[in-house]
Amino acid sequence: MGNGKTYYITTPIYYPSDNLHIGHAYCSVAADTMARFKKLEGYDTYFLTGTDEHGQKIERNAAKKGMTPQAFVDEIVLGIKDLWKLMDIDYSDFIRTSDERHVKAVQKIFRKLFDQGDIYKGNYEGWYCTPCESFFTELQLKDGCCPDCGRPVEKTSEEAYFFKMAKYQEWLIDYIEAHPDFIQPVTRKNEMLNNFLRPGLSDLCVSRTSLKWGVPVDFDEKHTVYVWLDALTNYITALGYESEETSLYEKFWPADLHLVGKEIVRFHTIIWPIILHALDLPLPKQVFGHGWLVLQGTKMSKSLGNVVDPVVLCNRYGSDAIRYFLMREMPFGSDGQFSYEALLTRVNADLANDLGNLVSRTVAMVEKYFDGVVPAHGEWEETDNALIKLCGETPAKVRAHMDDLQFSSALNDTWQLIGECNRYIDLNTPWILIKTDEGKERLKTVMYVLCECIRIVAILIAPTMPQTPARIFEQLGVSGEELTSWEAANTFGLLPEGTTVQKGEALFPRIDIKKELADIMPTPAEEKKAAEKKPEKKQEQRPVEQKPADDGVITIDDFAKVELRVARVKTAEKVEKSDKLLKFTLILGANDPERTVVSGIAQFYAPEEMIGKQVVLVSNLKPAKLRGIKSEGMILCASDAEDKVLKLVSVEDGMEDGAYIR
Ligand code: ME8
Repeated sequence: MGNGKTYYITTPIYYPSDNLHIGHAYCSVAADTMARFKKLEGYDTYFLTGTDEHGQKIERNAAKKGMTPQAFVDEIVLGIKDLWKLMDIDYSDFIRTSDERHVKAVQKIFRKLFDQGDIYKGNYEGWYCTPCESFFTELQLKDGCCPDCGRPVEKTSEEAYFFKMAKYQEWLIDYIEAHPDFIQPVTRKNEMLNNFLRPGLSDLCVSRTSLKWGVPVDFDEKHTVYVWLDALTNYITALGYESEETSLYEKFWPADLHLVGKEIVRFHTIIWPIILHALDLPLPKQVFGHGWLVLQGTKMSKSLGNVVDPVVLCNRYGSDAIRYFLMREMPFGSDGQFSYEALLTRVNADLANDLGNLVSRTVAMVEKYFDGVVPAHGEWEETDNALIKLCGETPAKVRAHMDDLQFSSALNDTWQLIGECNRYIDLNTPWILIKTDEGKERLKTVMYVLCECIRIVAILIAPTMPQTPARIFEQLGVSGEELTSWEAANTFGLLPEGTTVQKGEALFPRIDIKKELADIMPTPAEEKKAAEKKPEKKQEQRPVEQKPADDGVITIDDFAKVELRVARVKTAEKVEKSDKLLKFTLILGANDPERTVVSGIAQFYAPEEMIGKQVVLVSNLKPAKLRGIKSEGMILCASDAEDKVLKLVSVEDGMEDGAYIR
């Protein structure tokens, strides 16, 4: 039943990639869960996702494959759509920035902003990398060289269009301060105000002449619209803004929620609101920056890429289990570790044991004790009242958490209800009750209460786990809106007596975690064992004159234990009361958390000259405390015999942050 209200939610539009990982899926699962929840509540919901297809990278990757950019992205998009289907991501529309509807609207938006004087033509002063045909600002350079290929760059300028960002700076600060919910979580709001807005905005370069694969500026075709301006507008072009058919735009804009990863909050809360305001359009009600799913150390390597492939996970454990894990395991907004152990433990404990067992033993008992027919209940007793009360309170708690995007807390409350149902069985001991006539009468009530609670649980989990409720309802003999709607979750006692139940397959078969882990990845113990074992094996085959192992020679297996990675210095400062130590924050690529590392190089390098430099890090070193600071790794340096000269080890021509050194 509709509540007469609309709800518009978006994910970012993804860069076309044929290996979207579980982290990408995280954002889509969250958006889909929210969209399904709102739909369940009765909102007329619109859920947009899509792909961000323009730019130099795509142009180059397509060329490498001998394809046109369009053919290249067409192929990838099919794969992305297949992934979303596998994960039950039920979007209302999939916008592609190469869609003609989008391209035309972007051109109109650009022209409008130019005509009203917000966009002007100027010269882009920057650094040019000839082999890459790319311009970079001073800040984008890596060690003074091209951030893409690492080669030297030349100072140059090109004609470009600029957007007058600075003009809107004060307005945006006021807006953000007056609308505390606009940027969430609040830490992101403070970050935007303090790090970007208050220090001052520069005008933004919004066209390139060097890029061809993009939206051409229709009144000056040698210019291509800046990819972020092109990408951000998808949220309105998909609704038909600047087209002939604007009914969706009128119905759904402003968006209720843009869900984005924390690294792109800046684009969504500075550039995007300013564009919208310049176009005289209302701003989205909220931009929520979620955290990253972090994948453990070496497991991130390309050679083990399938370990975190959502397709592999869904095919092995079912998409409901993966969706449940993603939404349950970590609070939304914070980073969270992905690990197989955590996933499999959740599947067994929460899904197979708590939920699966509750359903299977309840249905089995109705079959065994009442010929599969849900009995009429008698008077409520104390234990019934307590469970019925919790069951009545849970939907409101779930709704409150969902409104705060606290998916994990919403599931936690639902699982508390499931836990109480299981305790209720143990407390009421049906297997003893059935032994007497009086007990059998009482058992009727117990079974009714359980079936009714399960019906409500099935409704509550539906947004996160879209496939499981139908399987539960089938076993319970429940169907129809009047028993499965949100209103029905809020009303205890709707299940008619006389309903026929039917035992089905286990909802979530238990996994032998040890076996499964062995199958999908070596456990740390096995890795160690394997590392210890290999040299032994070799030793057996060694000729007798082989030198003993303690001569300082190590095997390739010994060396393989050391994980070396390229890291970029984000911050550097002196450690108080120490002449030798510097404290660093290091970046290891987009998918790994930043690290704090303390290094004894203060006599050779000043903190300020370290910022932006790439270093080589021993990244799997056991953390150690230095002057009370936890240091997570070691920066490699070369030094002379007397330690009078010390130089950082670096990678020739630079590498992407986080790259493994092998
Ligand atoms: O940023 N954990 O696209 P994208 C959680 N095209 N989320 C992750 C993640 C991880 N490990 N890795 C990626 C873009 N994401 C732009 C958006 S919108 C107008 C343009 C999230 O494909 C990431 O934070 O690189 C982002 O929200 C989304 O996946 C798409 O990332």
